[in-house]
Amino acid sequence: MKIAVLAGDGIGPEIIAQAVRVLDALKTGGLDIELEYGLIGGCAVDATGEPYPEATHQLARQADAILLGAVGGPQYDTLPRQQRPERGLLAIRKELNLFANLRPAILYPELANASSLKYEVVAGLDIMIVRELTGDIYFGEPRGIEMRDGQRVGFNTMRYSETEIKRIAHVAFQAANKRNRKLCSVDKMNVLECTQLWRDVVIEVSREYPQVILSHMLVDNAAMQLVRDPKQFDVLVTGNMFGDILSDEASMLTGSIGMLPSASLDENNKGLYEPIHGSAPDIAGKDLANPLATILSVAMMLRYTFNQEEAAQRIERATKKVLASGFRTKDIDEPGMKSVGTRAMGDAVLSFL
Ligand code: NAD
Ligand code: IPM
Ligand code: MN
Repeated sequence: MKIAVLAGDGIGPEIIAQAVRVLDALKTGGLDIELEYGLIGGCAVDATGEPYPEATHQLARQADAILLGAVGGPQYDTLPRQQRPERGLLAIRKELNLFANLRPAILYPELANASSLKYEVVAGLDIMIVRELTGDIYFGEPRGIEMRDGQRVGFNTMRYSETEIKRIAHVAFQAANKRNRKLCSVDKMNVLECTQLWRDVVIEVSREYPQVILSHMLVDNAAMQLVRDPKQFDVLVTGNMFGDILSDEASMLTGSIGMLPSASLDENNKGLYEPIHGSAPDIAGKDLANPLATILSVAMMLRYTFNQEEAAQRIERATKKVLASGFRTKDIDEPGMKSVGTRAMGDAVLSFL
C-alpha cells in the first residue's frame, strides 16, 4: 500500500502526524504500508512557487492512495488565484479524476451533547453525503472579474454534462443500495437549468436501481431539513458547491467539523482521503485541533482503496473507545470529560488500537 502523505498548511501537519502514527501502528501490526511525503497548498507555494508542483503530481499519480491534511491560510489569500493553496487542492482532485466525494456524517452516541442540536434530533444519525467533486461552478468556464461598461463584473459558470451527472448518480445509487436504500438528490431546478438537467439525468439513472427509493429536494429546503430532521436522510447526492456547503452543515450534527472524514474516489477507487475541514488558522500550532476526522479518513482509505475492512473497523472501534473513555479535544469537550490536545488524542487512539 503506497500512500502519498500531503500534510499541507495550518493544522494540517498536526492532524496528519497523528494519522501517520496510526498507519505506523498498522504497519507494525503487519500491514504492508509505505509512506511518501509531498508538498501541497501554501507550503508548496513557499517552497516552489506553485500550490501543486509537478513532483507532487507524480508522487500522487504513482501512489495507490493519498492522505491529505488541509490547505490554505490568510497569508495566501492575496496571491494571484492560480497560486493560491486552494487551487492546489482543486488541481489534484481534477487531475486525478477524483469525482466522487463521500462524506459520511455519523453521530457517535457519546457526542450527542456536543452537537448543537437536541439529543433526540441527532441520536443515531448516520447519513452519507455524495458530493460531485470535479465539475460544477468550481471548474466551469468562462469565469473571472472584468471591466464591462465602466464597472467590474464578476462571473462564474455552473456547468454539468450528462456524463458527469450519470457517473456520480451511479456512485450514489450504489452507496444507497448498500445502506437503507433511500437516495435524496439535491438541486435548484426551480431556478437553474444546469440542475434541471441534474434532476432529469438522476431520474434516468434511477431506472437501473428500482430497489432504491429516490426523492428530490431543493437545496434551500435541504439545508433546512438537515437541521430540522436530519434522520429522514440516508444518502444525499448533490453537485460540488451544494455538497461543500451541506457537508459543513452536516458536520455540526455530529458534534464538530473535526469529526468528519472524507474519501474522494476515481472510477477505480483510487482515492484521496482528507478531513472535510480546513486548515483552521485560528487554532494552528496550538495542539488544539481534533485529529479524529483525519484518523477516520485513514479508516476510509483502508476500506475503499485497500479493501482492508478489518483494519478499517479496528480504527473505528478504537475511536469509539476513545470517546467512550471520555477523551475530548476542545471542539467536542464537555464538563467532566478528559480534556486533551491533538497529540494526546492521538496517544489515546493508539492505546486502544
Ligand atoms: P476551517 O474548516 O479551517 O475552520 C472553521 C472553524 O472550524 C474554525 O473555527 C476552526 O478552528 C474549526 N476547526 C476546523 N477543523 C478543526 C479541527 N480539526 N478541530 C477543531 N476545530 C476545527 O474553515 P475556514 O476557517 O473557513 O478556512 C480556513 C482555511 O482553510 C481557508 O484558507 C480555506 O480555504 C481552507 N480550507 C481548506 C480545506 C481543505 O484543505 N480541504 C477545507 C476547507 C477550508
Ligand atoms: C472542502 C474545501 C474546498 C472545497 C476548498 C478549500 C477548495 O472547502 O474540501 O470542502 O470547496 O471543496
Ligand atoms: Mn468545504
